[in-house]
Amino acid sequence: MTMVPPFPYYEVMVGIIAGGNLSLEGMEVAEKKGMETPFGEPSDHFSVGYLKGREVAFLPRHGPQGIPPHRINHRANIYALKRLGVSEVIGVNSVGSLREKIPPGWIVIPHDYLNPWQILSFYEHQAMHITPALDGRLRDLLIRAATEAGVSFVKEGVYIQTIGPRLETKAEITMLMNFGDVVGMTMAHEATLCQEVGLAYASICSVDNYCHGIGDRPLTEGEISERARENAAQIQRILARLMEETG
Ligand code: HPA
Repeated sequence: MTMVPPFPYYEVMVGIIAGGNLSLEGMEVAEKKGMETPFGEPSDHFSVGYLKGREVAFLPRHGPQGIPPHRINHRANIYALKRLGVSEVIGVNSVGSLREKIPPGWIVIPHDYLNPWQILSFYEHQAMHITPALDGRLRDLLIRAATEAGVSFVKEGVYIQTIGPRLETKAEITMLMNFGDVVGMTMAHEATLCQEVGLAYASICSVDNYCHGIGDRPLTEGEISERARENAAQIQRILARLMEETG
């Protein structure tokens, strides 16, 4: 018994799922598409149109009302992207850094992720065991686009997903430093669900802060969103390069 209804296929395009601070500068939006899914409503309407000649479906994962990370309906978001006919998905994900040598303002293109405590699946009632991995080809394209965009970035790193909505304690960060490079609350779910439905997924992580207890500045939510706003311009440059190269 499959719990995943079939996916009608319309056309091939790239999906971009981003946080609240990124708008797609230069995107010609042809249509705002509302979608219904068997898993409920996606975070928002999809902006479907063209960025540097490549067809794109853009979704702000926190929606207009600022859905907190632990309440995002990731299954609806990914299911809807698949139904729209997307073949690959780029996540733009805000992270804190566990490494002094990866400062706020940098970008990380992670090569793996860790989220053993909370796994989402489309397959709740059927044995379906993907071997999770970020898409190598899409990562290579992102690394090339980031190089050409001239941004400061790290071409690999392990992303650790915490549950949220609170940030981590200093003790949690001391533990997590043994296992990864950046911490966020969204990417692992998106990567896993995309892989389950055959969508290539890779991420541009925006390093918006040092994690709690790293460095000497106290960590505040305000600082994180301010840095995310500042980082948006370089992420737009990476995405524009990527679309030019693959369009
Ligand atoms: N922890 C978890 N998620 C985050 C952080 C953090 O420090 N910064 C941005 N998203």
